[in-house]
Amino acid sequence: MTTAAASSVSQYSQDELKTLVGQAALKYVVAGSIVGVGTGSTVNKFIDALAAIKDSIPGAVSSSVASTERLTALGIKVFDANEVQRLAVYIDGADEIDGQGFMVKGGGAALTREKIVAALADRFVCIADESKRVDVLGAFPLPVEVIPMAAGQIARRFEALGGQAQIRMKDGAPLVTDNGQHILDVRGLKIADPLAFESEVNQWPGVVTIGVFAHQKAAVCLLGTAQGVQTLEY
Ligand code: A5P
Repeated sequence: MTTAAASSVSQYSQDELKTLVGQAALKYVVAGSIVGVGTGSTVNKFIDALAAIKDSIPGAVSSSVASTERLTALGIKVFDANEVQRLAVYIDGADEIDGQGFMVKGGGAALTREKIVAALADRFVCIADESKRVDVLGAFPLPVEVIPMAAGQIARRFEALGGQAQIRMKDGAPLVTDNGQHILDVRGLKIADPLAFESEVNQWPGVVTIGVFAHQKAAVCLLGTAQGVQTLEY
């Protein structure tokens, strides 16, 4: 189903599209309920919008140190994930989303906590600009969080599947995630069966989290387009 929630004949910048979808996500926040909050530049727009209705919710469960800091700075209480049993909704961005609501995530290195918080939620609402919409996952390098001592063997497994895996670097050294692990970015994959691929790679020793979100797919995507926000339901 597709509905226009904003109308304009003019082009929006990518930043404006992120603002639009961040604001549009407010209507999915359930008053009186803790909301799950993802990570990234699009979610930052949502967090900024959330500040305007913060008195209507007890607070949030956050998927990263960065989002926690932003929420806290705006006066939004952050709960530990272990303090909640269920969330009505989890709101997060994506690096890619296909026509079934399957996603690739982890461009911001927060994929493990994102998947943990998403698993608590009844509904995943993805907020993204239209550059993220793909037919087949795999154009964006696939992030995989790994235990450092397993990185070499995991990279070789991806190479056997036709991918090229590289350790993500930051300031001349391997990037260290919020969980103290490393990220492999895998290029050259076409992920035709996201459910099966996620299950398979999750079994490889040393894989912490694969950035395919198929088992925790989006129920709704608020997609920022030149015509405004489209609501895609899966
Ligand atoms: C963070 O690890 C990611 O999963 C983000 O959700 C994803 O990279 C989207 O980020 P942007 O909103 O910054 O594009």
